[in-house]
Parts: sequence; structure tokens; C-alpha cells
Amino acid sequence: MQNIVDELYIAENLSDDELMYLIQTNEYDELLFTKAERRRKEIYGTDVYIRGLIEFTNYCKNDCYYCGIRRSNKNASRYRMSAEEILSTCEDGYRLGFRTFVLQGGEDPYFTDERVCEIVSKIREKFSDCAITLSIGEKSRASYQAFFDAGANRYLLRHETASEAHYKRLHPEEMKLSNRKRCLFDLKEIGYQVGAGFMVGSPFQRPENIVSDLRFLQELKPDMIGIGPFISHSETPFGQGEYENGSLSLTLRLISILRLMFPYALIPATTALATIDSKGRELGIKAGANVVMPNLTPEKDKGKYLLYDNKICLTEESALCREITDSKINSIGYNVVVSVGNPKRKLTTENKE
Ligand code: 5AD
Repeated sequence: MQNIVDELYIAENLSDDELMYLIQTNEYDELLFTKAERRRKEIYGTDVYIRGLIEFTNYCKNDCYYCGIRRSNKNASRYRMSAEEILSTCEDGYRLGFRTFVLQGGEDPYFTDERVCEIVSKIREKFSDCAITLSIGEKSRASYQAFFDAGANRYLLRHETASEAHYKRLHPEEMKLSNRKRCLFDLKEIGYQVGAGFMVGSPFQRPENIVSDLRFLQELKPDMIGIGPFISHSETPFGQGEYENGSLSLTLRLISILRLMFPYALIPATTALATIDSKGRELGIKAGANVVMPNLTPEKDKGKYLLYDNKICLTEESALCREITDSKINSIGYNVVVSVGNPKRKLTTENKE
């Protein structure tokens, strides 16, 4: 059976049944963690890349059943940051050593393509040595192209689940998995570094759904793969009692599986992981993750971007948040680097890294 773990290097060789077995058993966890950590060190050493997360609007026209900023949550206190605030947050972030800014928000119609492009080009002009990541949901190909032309070069859009039937149980009728996939392939074709991913332990998720997620990722070949446990939010349809949070152990196992299947991928130890366990971030790194995304959102709005309950780091100011991140990462023998943090793909003639 150790073979199964070895074969993850070439996961195409594993059958769906074998993958499903590996997802469900804790028998190989030690072996998985050890091999994933070794593989990660071969490629990324002990470096941990940081991304400064700026949650610039929590207005959203969507109504995803799991998400606290869904439009039907009338109790959410809504905010949007101005272009000036976003820019000055980037300045603070730059001073703190961030070389990637992630502009994340709900799908907020106020932020038209024109407004997004204006903000992106201002950031691009000021911070030519930084990566600009957008995470603002499903758009037309033309919009993605316009953002790219304005200077954005990365895009995060989790596919959430690659199974049609499961997708329908997490989203209202008007949202379509096919469109989500279309977006991801458009983004890749345009030239973005793309991040996909899914929640672990989302309601109704079955092991076979996770196998589909892994297969979809093999097809998409994203640069970044973000996974984190589902955490219920009390003001959503999944907020009441019977919907359990995703587990730490399954999330860590999947991080290791992802590292072995996609050795060059950027894999964050997510805030959701750090929320369900006080050591979640460190354990995520040790399981094979190589990115953390501290929150740079200014204090007055930080507490309002609540996708799920009990989110951590809601009161610290960004500088402190950065220090805490540093010391936690150092404590496990890794180190945060001041770098744009591109993926190290295999050496090819076009891509010498
Ligand atoms: N628990 C965990 N993760 C969530 N997300 C949204 N709602 C929740 C929740 N309740 C994740 C989604 C989304 C990302 C920004 O946050 O996967 O893509």
C-alpha cells in the first residue's frame, strides 16, 4: 500500500478508487506528511511566500448557501473601500514586506470594469515590482482581459466543487459550475497565474466529490490551489446545527496529497485552517503548504468580511499580524521571504527559475 503514496507523484497512475481510499484513511498520514514536506523542501526549500490580502468590499450579488456575505444576509454590515484606501493599504503592505497584493471582494456591481481597471493600473504604476492578484468572482472573458491589460497578473477563483450535483446543493440555480470552469480556463488562456480550490467538508461533500476535485485540478493545472475547511456561518442556510465544520485532519491530508500530486503548486495555509485550530497555519505548512495570506484590510472594516463564524485576526493591526505570522513560521523552521513568490515550474527554455 505504500505504493499508493509513492504513485501520487504520478497520480494519473492511481485509479479513482485508490485516491478515494487514500482520502478516507488516516493510516498513511505520517508517510504522506513526510513525503510532502520533503517534496516541498526540494522545490521551495523552507521559504514561505506571503500575500497581503485586501478585502475591499463585502457587497455581493450572489447568494451562495455557505457564505456569510451572501446577498440574503441582511445582518451583514456592508462596506466598500475607496480607491484611495486600497492604494494606501498597498503602501502599508509594501512597507511590511509584501510584494503581492490580493484584492478580494464579493461580486459587487459598484466595482465596474472601469473602476477595477483604474484601481489596478494605479497599483501597477506605483508598485511595478509587485504581483497584483484579483479575487472578484465570475466575469466575462473581456473583463478578465481588461483587468489583465491594466496590470493584474494573478486571479483566484475557487471552483468550490467539481461535481455538478454537489455544486447545485451549495449554490442557487442561477450559478453554474460550467461558467465557473469557463472562467478558470479563460483566465489561464489570457495569461494569468490562476488559483482554484475547494472547501473541505462542505455540506453534502462525499469522498468521490473530492476525487472529482483532484481530477479537475489535474485538467486545469492551476498555479495555486487553495483549500480550507468549511466553517458554518450562523446567518446562512448552513448555519443551523446539523452542518459540521470541515476537519483539520482531512484538510492536512489533502494538503499533502496536493503537494505530491502538484509539486510545483503554490498552496496556502488558509485563514479558515487557522480558524479551526490555533496551530492550523503551522500544521498546514508542515503538511506541504508554502503560502500564507495575512490580512491587510484596515481595522475599521476587518471585522466585517465574515465568510464564516469565528474568523481569526479580526482586531490586530496589519503590522502585528505580520509579526505574528513571522514568528509562528520561524518556530517550525520555515521563513517568510520578501518576494513576489512566483511558482517554480520545471526548468524549461522559456522559464528559467
Ligand atoms: N467556510 C469556509 N470557507 C468559505 N468560503 C466561503 N464561505 C466559506 C465558509 N463558510 C471560501 C470559498 C470562497 C473563498 C473566498 O472562501 O471557498 O471561494
